[in-house]
This record gives sequence, structure tokens and C-alpha cells, in this order.
Amino acid sequence: MLEGKKIVLGICGSIAAYKAAILVRLLVKAGAEVQVVMTADAVSFITPLTLSTLSKKPVLVNYFEPNTGTWNNHVKLGLWADLFLIAPASANTLAKMANGQCDNLLTAAYLSAKCPVYFAPAMDLDMWRHPSALNNVQKLLSYNNILIQPGTGELASGLHGEGRMAEPEEILAFITIDIAKTLPLTGKQILVTAGPTYEAIDPVRFIGNHSSGKMGFAIAHEIAEQGAIVTLVTGPTALTARHPAIKRVDVTSAAEMLEACLVHFENADACVMSAAVADYTPVTVSEQKIKKQDDGFCIDLKKTIDILKVLGERKRKGQFLIGFALETQNEEQNAIDKLKKKNLDLIILNSLNDNGAGFKLDTNKITIIDSNLEKTTFDTKSKTEVAVDICRKLIALMQ
Ligand code: CTP
Repeated sequence: MLEGKKIVLGICGSIAAYKAAILVRLLVKAGAEVQVVMTADAVSFITPLTLSTLSKKPVLVNYFEPNTGTWNNHVKLGLWADLFLIAPASANTLAKMANGQCDNLLTAAYLSAKCPVYFAPAMDLDMWRHPSALNNVQKLLSYNNILIQPGTGELASGLHGEGRMAEPEEILAFITIDIAKTLPLTGKQILVTAGPTYEAIDPVRFIGNHSSGKMGFAIAHEIAEQGAIVTLVTGPTALTARHPAIKRVDVTSAAEMLEACLVHFENADACVMSAAVADYTPVTVSEQKIKKQDDGFCIDLKKTIDILKVLGERKRKGQFLIGFALETQNEEQNAIDKLKKKNLDLIILNSLNDNGAGFKLDTNKITIIDSNLEKTTFDTKSKTEVAVDICRKLIALMQ
């Protein structure tokens, strides 16, 4: 959820600032780019060196850097952020934020930010309960800033009560769940297939194809990024699915892929069938390794079941089906024929005649055709970018 997100992490003068080191580490590990901005008092609690080492970026504290004479542009900083997180947020900084005061870099950047703002207060229980602090929190909520509720426990003062900053793990979980709520595919279950299938000839040989699985894995990742729970049914590939919302199901043959798809399509809202499924499989699989013969050698093949066609026949109202067509001639007409024959909502056409399209490459060039035969042609792009285009079409379809 946080992969590639630009986060400004504001750290205020509170003993909870020591936990900011763990928070930075967690955010960076989740794939975020973190720019730490500290108030002058925060620097007394934790060194900028610790935080710049963990965030791999210089920490900003001042409007002006006294050593270099450079100006830290608060407006640029605020607009750069995809997400603004203030943790720990002290009573003083909350008051400034609530009242538009901006006498330091952090509060000035806050006023310029257009992105979602989360704040995790940290203060002693009586400060937290004080009507002015509660009033400031209410004001911030009215600005659509998002409160990460403080916890209850022993406080730095030795008193016991509410006011300690939420733990870094809780902050990460809160933000991740909150972002997921607003994504276009939240609550959807989507089946994606990827990779080749291997059709066994004997215990050591098989018929396969050159599919790397890159396109299908990129699609699964992007769909998960948009909030869906993804079941990724994949043929043999060395790739790793890194998103927590992707549940991977490994299969080898077309028959195994069919079986897995039938199970998971039942509850799916959509299926993107990007696997390169074998069209034929040996009639019999030799139990023993087949020995070399003097002359030529023939293998009897039978047709595999067309998984996409079966899913197209089972498709219920409200379910959406996307297929691929890899063509070398009469590309568009062949793709349209497949779209109709398999009862698809979209077909993604790749032509092997296009440079930058095909198996194993990191790029692809696609044309998407919908059931009204409207087509959209895209430039050659990385498979990650192509996955974004496909996902956008899927979202438009499902909305
Ligand atoms: N497909 C499938 N099951 C098969 C073969 C293909 O589900 N046994 C799916 C692929 O995942 C892809 C689409 O069908 O989404 C198109 O596959 P392709 O091999 O290009 O088309 P075919 O229908 O097999 O036609 P042809 O081989 O004649 O081009």
C-alpha cells in the first residue's frame, strides 16, 4: 500500500520521538520514500543522524541551512508529499496546526500540503484531556486531518493514562488500512493467472513455453495496490509475489490451472487470464523416462480445455472477464473473435510483430478491445506501466 509513496514524517519535541526511528524503518521497509522534518525541540530527543541514516535522506529542521545558506522550500515539500504524517505530534504543534501558525518548517510545510494528513499525538494525560488540546484535535478533524488515537499506559511523567503515542507498528497498520479503504478495488476479490504451463511427457520432460509470468505478476501487484484481494494462480516461474494482498496458488499443468481457476472464479468479482496455457497436452504420460530411439519420435497430443472459455460460460452478472490474445497475423480480427467466442469483457491484444512486445521482455505493447469493440492502443511501456493501464480499464469496467 505504501510502495513508492512519498511521505513527509514530521517529528515534534516529545519523548516518543525516540520511536520515530522504528517508524522510519517500517515505512522505508514498506517501500515508502520518507522525508523527515523535525522541530527544533525534537532534535533534543533523537539525532537527525539516526533518522537520516534510516531514511537515506538528509533530515530537514530549518527554513535555512546555516552551513550551506540554502533554503528549504516548505511549499515544495508540502506539495511533494503523497502523505503527511506527524508522529509524535506534540500539544504545541497540534495547536499551531489547528490555528494556522507556521513558525517552523514542519508547520509551514503542513499548511502547504494537499495530501491526506495523519497525526499521532503524544503528551501527558492531563495535557491530552485539556479542553484546549481536545478543541485543537476537533479543529484538525474538521480539516479532514486523520487522528491516530494515542494509547493508554505508563507515561514519561510516571503517571498512568491516555496520551502515549500509538506504537510504530500500530501507526503503520492504521495508515495501511485507512489507505486501503479509499482505493477503487477495495472489497473486491480478483483472480489473476500468470506464467506458462508445463505438460509432462515423462518424469523428466515436458512441453512448455517461454512465458516468464512478468506480465501476470505485474497485473496482480497493481490490482492488489488498488485495494483488491488477489488470488494469483501461476504456472512455473522464478518470480516472487511481494504484495500482502496477493494469495499465490502454484500449479504446473493446464489441467491443474483449470481446477484452481474453477475454485477461485466462484467468488471472484473479476478474472484476468494472462497465463500462457498450453493448447495441447500429451495423451499419455510415460511413467518411466522414455529411452532414445533410432528414428524419429512422435508424441500424441490432445487438446487442453480452454480455461477462459469455460469461465466465460460460467460468468455471472457482475463478474468480469479479461483475456489475452497473442497474435502474429490478422491481429485485431483474431482478438475480436476470441473476445466474442470466450464471452469476455475486455481482450488485451499483443502482437509479436510489435517491437518491445512478447515473452521474457520487460516491456509490452498492447491494444485493449472492449465488448463494444472499442479499442485503445497504447505505446510500448514497461510491464509495470502496462499493468497500470490494464488495471485502470478494469476499474472503469467494474465501476
Ligand atoms: N487460454 C486459456 N486456456 C487455454 C488456452 C488459452 O484460458 N487452454 C487463455 C489464455 O490465458 C489467454 C487467451 O485464452 O487469455 C488466449 O489465448 P491464446 O492461446 O492466444 O488463444 P487461443 O484461444 O488458444 O487461440 P489460438 O492458440 O488459436 O490463437
